[in-house]
Amino acid sequence: FFVKLCRTAVTMLGSAILFWISFILLFLLFRTKRPKNFPPGPRPIPIFGNLLQLDLVDLLNDLRKLSERYGKVYSIYLGRKPAVVLNGLQAMREALVTQSVEFAGRPKGLMINHLSEGKGVGMTDGPMWKEHRRFALTTLRNFRMGKPSMEERILGEIFHIVKHLEKNAGKSTDPQTLFHKAGFNIICTVLFGTRFKHEDEFLQLNIRHITENSKIINGLWGMIYDTLPLLRTLPLPFQKAFQNMRMIRKSLADQVSQHKESRVPGEPRDLIDCYLDEMEKRGDDGSSFSENQLVFYLLDLFFAGTDTTSNTLLTAFLYLMTHPDVQERCQKEINEVLGEKEQVSFQDRHRMPYTQAMIHEIQRVADTVPLAPFHATTKDTRLMGYNIPKGTIIIPNLSSGLSEESQWKFPHEFNPSNFLNDEGEFVKPEAFMPFSAGFRVCLGEGLARMELFLILVTLLRRFKFIWPEEAGVPDYTPVFGLIHSPKPYKLGVRLRGSGDLGA
Ligand code: HEM
Repeated sequence: FFVKLCRTAVTMLGSAILFWISFILLFLLFRTKRPKNFPPGPRPIPIFGNLLQLDLVDLLNDLRKLSERYGKVYSIYLGRKPAVVLNGLQAMREALVTQSVEFAGRPKGLMINHLSEGKGVGMTDGPMWKEHRRFALTTLRNFRMGKPSMEERILGEIFHIVKHLEKNAGKSTDPQTLFHKAGFNIICTVLFGTRFKHEDEFLQLNIRHITENSKIINGLWGMIYDTLPLLRTLPLPFQKAFQNMRMIRKSLADQVSQHKESRVPGEPRDLIDCYLDEMEKRGDDGSSFSENQLVFYLLDLFFAGTDTTSNTLLTAFLYLMTHPDVQERCQKEINEVLGEKEQVSFQDRHRMPYTQAMIHEIQRVADTVPLAPFHATTKDTRLMGYNIPKGTIIIPNLSSGLSEESQWKFPHEFNPSNFLNDEGEFVKPEAFMPFSAGFRVCLGEGLARMELFLILVTLLRRFKFIWPEEAGVPDYTPVFGLIHSPKPYKLGVRLRGSGDLGA
């Protein structure tokens, strides 16, 4: 009996020692090591880093609290990967503008990279990114797509929004579907030279897949994918994002095939035709332009250009309905400036300081992309006294600059005066960075600004928007995500009379 007891004791002791050795080895293996003179931050735990300490639903609030404790530049760990969070104008300007090149990379090995297979323009860097970025900027800015112009394409879609609202005048309507489909169609007219009926399968399916993927990438499953690589091949909900992506890519590849059949070289109708022309011009000179790359390129523009503008518009109408004084002042200015003119043009913005201020203030409170897609450092560098090694993930907290107390007259209220000087002229404070800044600044900024101005002015000129009585107290808190979206609401629509100044 005694021998048996000793044997059991030895086995138990052996198991315990083995357990602790494995535990210590695992701990050492997954331990995160902070680089020398790296920005301070909360202590990470092995494997998970700081993820379990952050509230993913109220992440911005947690990031703000960390900034109060550790300063404007601090670090957190995403699993074992160190990331530096930039808060406020000074830190973001020093990194994104002053050291544009050093901070213009993109991280590797995350879900978003795997979804885009290292192609496209949004999540790549290096020569391919540069070539494609330059091409998109010149094509979108110089209207190389010929007729109709960018402005005419947007006005064409506005015609359909107006028709829908006219049908609903005197009632309340659902603005969510209306503006998501409008934003989608504007991008489609630029990329494919065509718009889709609201009930079209192409439009419905792609909007659904884009929205689903934004939620997965930025939600819990996206975080799990990025943090725990061992789980990536398991049949977990993040596989849906890859499935959706294959479907979107297929529909975009079909568009490219149709264009190849119907195009006339040298007479581009849209961005796909321009790209195919460019491919022919470059030939096999080793450039990164290819048909496969084109599909991912379209995908990026599609993703980046639909929900961003539609959610900004949704925020605009939420605030305009609940701030009738601002709405009426804009309508008065629009009436005075446009007079009998049939259609507004983008040029008219220079004569509408108050309306311009209103649109910028909407973008400030909408805070549409609160955390810019993560950047990465392209070489070892320094920021505000700290060492940041090459390849570190950088998280520009754009949201922090848009409400930084030292930068705004009214940081925590909706007030177009944030963009007006004492003479009532339109001014743009430096902390206004909803499109980010530097080399990575949004490449659809020009298009987005044109869309917002033309849509808002046309609709304010024709309609009065009223917060429906039965809707109760408005809730301005947005739903957090890669793209902020306001909570669903109803839009009360009334037709304005010809001499109506908004009253
Ligand atoms: C990138 C904001 C509309 C295309 C970005 C970034 C932000 C942003 C914050 C990240 C920049 C960075 O990484 O630092 C917005 C907002 C929009 C809008 C607030 C509307 C109100 C559009 C539109 C397009 C577009 C309409 C399509 C033409 C892109 C692309 C990138 C980008 C392709 C990636 C650029 C790169 O990595 O080089 N946008 N965007 N965006 N945006 Fe937009």
